[in-house]
Amino acid sequence: MKDQTPNINKDRIPKHVAIIMDGNGRWARKNGLIRTIGHANGVKSVREVVEASVEIGISVLTLYAFSNENWNRPKAEVKALLELLVKSLSKELPTFQKNNIQLQTIGETQNLPKRCHKILQETIEKTSKNDGLKLVLALSYSSKLEILNSVKKIAEKVAEKTISPQDITESVFSNELYTADYPDLDLLIRTSGEYRISNFLLWQIAYAELYFSPKLWPDFTKDDFFEAIVEYQNRERRFGKTAEQIKN
Ligand code: FPP
Repeated sequence: MKDQTPNINKDRIPKHVAIIMDGNGRWARKNGLIRTIGHANGVKSVREVVEASVEIGISVLTLYAFSNENWNRPKAEVKALLELLVKSLSKELPTFQKNNIQLQTIGETQNLPKRCHKILQETIEKTSKNDGLKLVLALSYSSKLEILNSVKKIAEKVAEKTISPQDITESVFSNELYTADYPDLDLLIRTSGEYRISNFLLWQIAYAELYFSPKLWPDFTKDDFFEAIVEYQNRERRFGKTAEQIKN
């Protein structure tokens, strides 16, 4: 594949990119392997997109690593996925430090097994002073639940009379989401040729560009990521305005 970096406009780098990493299972089946080997090979692609994001100066990269619905998968697969996460985090800590990467999470991470939760907290703590790329792992994440939690928190404030219903604005609502501190989502990528959002960042994608790649996640490379960035930069983002208004 041709090198995409010369085509990237350094003045129009998306601030926040999110990825639905899909197709590990199909990749494994295609190669006559068990599903967990598919996930293990997916880690290679995680490294590729993280490296690429650092290279071009993306501020926030959010990866859908484990959805709330993924708890319903066979026990052994859930165990293997979470083990892989623990192993990867321990292994990648020096890379995070060297590249000034700050690890964060969104989701109901308190539901993760103790060991997994502990290593996550440790890695978040150890990288908290880094001010380069924010690498955000969505773990035990459900966007509908995130929205409901935001509603509940605001309802409590209304009940306590610290806010009145008329004062509930978009920003009041956004401030209760996990993503409150992140810039708006610019680009959402999904791999494996599926055209779904799967309960991911439903509120946050309001004006994001959507990019679907036919590649299965373990086959997704740095150049595929750069191709998505180039495509994003070639789109006209109008935010509800007309093309003429944008030009002026
Ligand atoms: C979707 O493929 C992928 C996942 C549910 C998990 C993604 C996890 C990783 C890439 C590894 C660990 C992550 C980190 C951050 C170190 P699928 O199983 O739904 O594939 P299928 O649709 O082909 O069955």
